[in-house]
This record gives sequence, structure tokens and C-alpha cells, in this order.
Amino acid sequence: MHLSRTAAVRVIPPEVSSRPAVIARGSDAIIAEISAGLLARRAATSPKYLYDSLGSRLFEAICELPEYYPTRTEAAIFARHGADIARAVGEGCTLIDLGAGNCAKAASLFPLLQPAQYVPIDISRDFLNEAVLRLQQRFPAIDMHALALDFSSTLALPDTVRQQGRVFFYPGSSIGNFTPHEAIAFLRRLRTDGASGAGECSLLIGVDLVKDSATLDAAYDDAIGVTAAFNLNMLRHVNQLIGADFDVSQWQHRAFFNAEEGRIEMHLEAREALVVTWPQGERHFARGERIHTEDSYKYTPRSFVELLREAGFAATRTWTDEAGWFAVVHARAMGLA
Ligand code: AVI
Repeated sequence: MHLSRTAAVRVIPPEVSSRPAVIARGSDAIIAEISAGLLARRAATSPKYLYDSLGSRLFEAICELPEYYPTRTEAAIFARHGADIARAVGEGCTLIDLGAGNCAKAASLFPLLQPAQYVPIDISRDFLNEAVLRLQQRFPAIDMHALALDFSSTLALPDTVRQQGRVFFYPGSSIGNFTPHEAIAFLRRLRTDGASGAGECSLLIGVDLVKDSATLDAAYDDAIGVTAAFNLNMLRHVNQLIGADFDVSQWQHRAFFNAEEGRIEMHLEAREALVVTWPQGERHFARGERIHTEDSYKYTPRSFVELLREAGFAATRTWTDEAGWFAVVHARAMGLA
């Protein structure tokens, strides 16, 4: 289909933005959440605190590392099976890009997918606006409507988002950073909040697959230490958020595949006995004690299709690379007209 009209681009004006790009210090809820995690018997922090502005740039660098195969493997699946994916999704869809970032992954599919409307959603308003304005120059026929939302907690879409042919695009195996229970709850919410009155709703989702642990371990503990910097930077971010006095040099990065749980675990490990203080608390860490900072679940194609089914989505097609390292799945919401 050739779209000849020039469509509108809606970026987000500053006064309408729902969240700042960087979480501000001083929010009671954030301080309470981080304090509780640090004081827990097994200290833990939410992976969302890995992403301040430096953390986001370090993650972009991770995606270019030779050891970090998910990004390039997924891109190769899109490049090889794009026409087939477009046939499964259907022409003229409303493509809702969850965590769009620089919008590059969705844009790689535009020539084949030809969406009628593109709705990139990201928490980082300024980054998203810039990306969408650039993209509109390249694809003037596609109606673009950027939204600055934290879609992990709610997905209230405005009326300006087309009802027809809604397709939620969730690439990069971001679903793996939820526990399977959380992933099911998140996808169920997507299905109920995101489905339009017209009842059409499907999902195009990327997921990392279980493989040998040496490959997995290397992907999360690269030779030049970018993932270590990404993990350690969380301490600087937490210092800023809650006024803590973490000394980054006292900590080291640990990442490994936990085969029993089917997940990569990232931790920060104390190099020596130490004390961390912040206005609301203090914690003594013994040498070798850890803070659990992220999980990244890996699935088999079968276990992931089963998870989708539990969330109310029926898989229609699965595409993988030749080595079977990564999968892209298209699934339709069940029980909706
Ligand atoms: C964003 N997410 C899918 C990445 C992953 O692979 O779980 C985050 C990451 N953590 C360390 N390296 C990459």
C-alpha cells in the first residue's frame, strides 16, 4: 500500500508530560521503596534504577557489544522475516511501541508494515520527541503520536489513538525483566486496558531464549566491563535519589545464569565489610554480601507461548534465528471480538 498523504506528527508539549525524564530526588515513594529494598534480609533494588541518563547511554553501548547477542539477533530476525511478520500483523495497523526509545526498531519495520498510525510510548519525553520529529521526516505519510507514559503501571490511551488494528510492539526481551508472574499480569493489563472498543488487539514481542550458560554469562559480563559500569552506575543513581553514600569502588559486578530459575541474575557484591548510610537508614554489608539489581528471564519458545496463553494471548507465529537464540512472536488477544 502506498500512502500519499502527509500525516500529522503529535509530539508531547512540556506541560502535558506525565513524568520527568530522570526520577527526581526526594519523592517519598521512591525513598521508601529503595530503603525497604536495601534493608531487606537479601538486599535488592528495582532494575528501573539502572536507567538514569548515564545508565540509558550505557545500555545503548551494551547493545553494541559483541557478547550482547539479543539486539543484533532480533534485528536479523526482523530483517530476514520482515515480509512474513508484516503479513501476520496486517497492513495499516496502529503500531503502539512500548518503550520506544529512539524508535529505531519499529522504524526498521515501517517499509513493510506501513502502519496507519505509529504511537511510540516512552518515559523519557525529550528523547522521544526528538526521535519522532526525525522519524516523521523519513516517513511523512505515517500519522505519529508520541506519548510520555510509564506504561508499566497503567496504559490509558487517549482517544486520538486509533481503535482499529492495535498492535502492541514490545521488542528487545524487555518482558524478561519481569518475573513470569509479573509478565502475565502486565500482558493481561495490556490486553484489557489497551484493547479498543473495536476489540482488535495483538502483540508483536521479542523474547530471549534459554541457551548455553557460557553464552548467557558473557552477554551479561562482557570483557571490557560496560555491563559492570551499567550495574555499578545504579549506586551513583541511588546516592542521588535517596542521599546515600555508596562508594562505587567498594563494589563489584556479578552476573550469572541461574539455570534452576531460568534467569540471568545481576548483583553488586561488597569487596569488603562496609556501611552505607542515608537519611532514613543504614546498612552494614559483610564482605561478599550482595545487592540483587536485576533478573533477565530466558524462555523456550514453548514456555513463552504458554506464558502468553496464560495472559490471554494466542500465538499465531513464532520466528527465530538459525541458532535458536531469540524469538519474535505474534499473538492475538483471546476472547475479544
Ligand atoms: C533491557 N533488558 C532487556 C536488558 C536484558 O538483557 O535483560 C537489560 C540488560 N541488563 C544487562 N544487560 C542488559
